[in-house]
Amino acid sequence: MKKTHHCCQLCKADVGSTVILAGWIDTIRDHGGVFFIDLRDREGVTQIVADPAHENYNSLLDQLKPESVIEISGKVEARSAENVNPNMVTGEIEVVVETIKIHNISQTPPFPMEDTKAERVNEDLRLTYRYLDLRRPAMYKILKTRHLAVTATRNYLNENGFLEIETPSLFKSTPEGAREFLVPSRLNPGHFYALSQSPQQMKQMLMVAGVERYYQVARCFRDEDLRADRQPEFTQIDIEMSFIDREDMYALIEGMLKRIWKDSLGVDIPTPFPRMPFVDAMNRFGVDKPDTRYGMELQDLSDLFATSSFKVFAGTIAQGGVVKALNAKGLSDITQGEMKSLEEAAKSLGAKGLAFIRVQNGEWKSPILKFFSEEEKAALKELLNIEEGDMVFFAATEWERACSILGRVRTDCAALLVKRERMELDPKQFNFLWVIDFPLMMFDEEENRYVASHHPFTSPVEEDVPLLETDPKAVRGQHYDCVLNGWEIAGGSIRIHQPDLQKKVFEDILKIPADVVESRFGYMLKAFKYGAPPHGGIAFGVERLVSLLTGRSGIRDVIAFPKTQRGQCLMSESPSKATPDQLKNLHIAVVDQPE
Ligand code: AMO
Ligand code: AMP
Repeated sequence: MKKTHHCCQLCKADVGSTVILAGWIDTIRDHGGVFFIDLRDREGVTQIVADPAHENYNSLLDQLKPESVIEISGKVEARSAENVNPNMVTGEIEVVVETIKIHNISQTPPFPMEDTKAERVNEDLRLTYRYLDLRRPAMYKILKTRHLAVTATRNYLNENGFLEIETPSLFKSTPEGAREFLVPSRLNPGHFYALSQSPQQMKQMLMVAGVERYYQVARCFRDEDLRADRQPEFTQIDIEMSFIDREDMYALIEGMLKRIWKDSLGVDIPTPFPRMPFVDAMNRFGVDKPDTRYGMELQDLSDLFATSSFKVFAGTIAQGGVVKALNAKGLSDITQGEMKSLEEAAKSLGAKGLAFIRVQNGEWKSPILKFFSEEEKAALKELLNIEEGDMVFFAATEWERACSILGRVRTDCAALLVKRERMELDPKQFNFLWVIDFPLMMFDEEENRYVASHHPFTSPVEEDVPLLETDPKAVRGQHYDCVLNGWEIAGGSIRIHQPDLQKKVFEDILKIPADVVESRFGYMLKAFKYGAPPHGGIAFGVERLVSLLTGRSGIRDVIAFPKTQRGQCLMSESPSKATPDQLKNLHIAVVDQPE
């Protein structure tokens, strides 16, 4: 027997024909005298009707259980008018079973398989039985959307003259990135590969090789602390081009995203995308990946409080800091618990306190109200549009920290307002944005040196190059991020292609010792001496892209077999211990192995 149709295909026109269907038993109902079975495959559901008196299969019916795999032949019949199910594609027909073949009898699944119920089940259980979880229609839909999105990408890039080229996953360790996974080399005792964090260096070598337009759907590995939008292995749509500038890149990528949205969702997204300099993003939204679907923007109050008698604010400004505030409209009923979490979040970003004004019953309530003059209060009311029911937060500290603190307060308050149904964040509204003009370097207080804000291969903006010597902090990088609804979905830059400038950035600006530069990046600097074209590129996180396409809040849902927060695969139980033999072959001794 071979199936003749999917379980979503049959309709009234098929009445009278004999068909073969195969799939999983979704539900089975014994209606005294007849069995109604919803048979499901990846495309949909068809109702089949089995007669317990039928000599071909009557002895088999008792064995049928949900999630068992069966194959049936039978005749398509029209349902009587009162039995038509308008909610089902195949709701006008049913298949009256002639023969049944049982392929596999399923045990009772460990969780309910209906989408609405399964989504409420503990995620660990779903991940342990991921093959069952993925069998659900909602999950199949995600897998399919991901497939469509990647296919659209490939088609678009192929049409635009790109070559798909694979690069190694076994790579070498490079400082200046995320923490890496190391892989011992059996053939080279005591030596390790690092799993590639991204194909960055290899794609640049491909440009030196004259490929001109490269892409890859590339597996990347980063040993980071995991979050909702971070996995230890993930996939990038990785792109690099020669002889282009930033404008070429924006145009190419806008076209690509347009194609992805069209082919996988049928949605037309408007282009070009708005652009926002990093400084504006920080000033207005307190983050370099703003969700612009809502306002609640940060306001700068430094002018107002520069001469204030409130010493906390005036003092901060005198020391070169800023006072910023935001009005969480309508959130004056914030609970004590919610307030505490906000304060903790603010403190984790270096806030000393989180001053506030709560407006309730026509009254401003705040521990700092007594420090404000009448003029200051009037100005605040005006600047922040303070009204009944509002909740205003302040941060007074260095500029970037103040922005980040209120940026966090802004997103957390938005979540609280959404929870209270006072604000709507529509996942089908797609606010794309280019964030541009990042500083090339940021000063890392802990390491007491500059670190690259994107990566050390990013080219400075040409007219800022002289500032590398005098004021590195002021140098802008040719770095761009693509942001969608508060997520950084891609980042890239125009690269340095001159060996002297690259060496200078490594050694003089990033203060990487010369011998380390030579051992880690020597081959790159050498390659740049043999005809390196100007080039630039970008990489998209496929999982983030697909999460946003499918309206999911985390990327685990869009990965077939994801890792948990602790980096484990619960289904296959990895990572696991190595045997003494394996370790011996790899010249590795494990010390202090905690249970
Ligand atoms: P970057 O490090 O910004 O740039 O990464 C590019 C994009 O990859 C996604 N991403 C991740 N997704 C899931 N889990 C992770 N742990 C994770 N880390 C990153 C994000 C991010 O925007 N080589 C450069 C790109 C370039 O310059 O061309 C790079 O890797 O969506
Ligand atoms: P204090 O005078 O230290 O008791 O602070 C008075 C109020 O200002 C408290 O509510 C603190 O949480 C808040 N606060 C103190 N320092 C800052 C700051 N740098 N930024 C914002 N709020 C602050």
